[in-house]
Amino acid sequence: MSILFHCTFPNEKKWLQSVRKKFNRHKVFTIKDKFNFNEIHYAIIWNLPDRILRKLVNLKVIFSLGAGVDHIINTPSYKNVPILRVKDPNMAKRMSYHVHSQILNYQLKLNLFQKAQLKKKWLGEMETLLNHEITIGILGVGFLGTAVGKYLKKMEYKVIGFKKSYSQSIKPFKLYNKKNINTFIKSSNIVVSILPSTKETENFIDLNFLKQMKKDALLINIGRGVSLNENHLLQHLNKNKNFYVSLDVFKKEPLPKTHKFWNHPNIIVTPHAAALTDIDSSINLMHLRYLAFV
Ligand code: GLV
Repeated sequence: MSILFHCTFPNEKKWLQSVRKKFNRHKVFTIKDKFNFNEIHYAIIWNLPDRILRKLVNLKVIFSLGAGVDHIINTPSYKNVPILRVKDPNMAKRMSYHVHSQILNYQLKLNLFQKAQLKKKWLGEMETLLNHEITIGILGVGFLGTAVGKYLKKMEYKVIGFKKSYSQSIKPFKLYNKKNINTFIKSSNIVVSILPSTKETENFIDLNFLKQMKKDALLINIGRGVSLNENHLLQHLNKNKNFYVSLDVFKKEPLPKTHKFWNHPNIIVTPHAAALTDIDSSINLMHLRYLAFV
């Protein structure tokens, strides 16, 4: 029984070494090696090309090297092999820190001071809200969304969540669904989207959604770029000069050099870097799940 490992992360070699060390009872191949496709039963992957996936006819399980599984299910040859994805507490912590940094940047007006500095302009003190005066709406309350919400709640923010279907009893904050989403949007000073990429989430955040948000709100997208209608966002920003946005994910990544988001004064662009997959903790978790699976 052999494993195919493939990833497109810059630290790919380190990943491979760690996978080989942890799964030392097995042969671990990469697509550069010579191997028999029929003997591959497990794949540990991020962005495996379709031409390879197509040939792995004896796969028992696929491990996604990230929280998202869209890179697998959107591959044309993917059928119905079970997928186990990373659910790593360290990733959740890093994501929470990232979200909190973007909230504080907006809440404490650091974004305005930074812009003023470029013009050597002294803005002086400005009024700011305290944490408990701010409502944060988490759009997509899965593993990561729940962790981010709990973190923010600990910091005394008011936290609410949106999930298309939910069981209120297991979530630590009030949840909304499609029926009352308008109240969710209107109540939030900040919306944090952690929506995955699915047909249902495509352009979920559109002009209609944005128009219902508070005029001086902050929108953070750390889920997937497909969930945001980028043209609608630009239209909305044209009319709402006090609306701020922090984007970590985009329809096309890397964000093309000509994209309008790069130079927009109200948008912060980060390069899909909100929460890296932690090598050691995720390989340990993967190994545990593998042992439970075999
Ligand atoms: C990153 O986007 C991930 O899915 O882990």
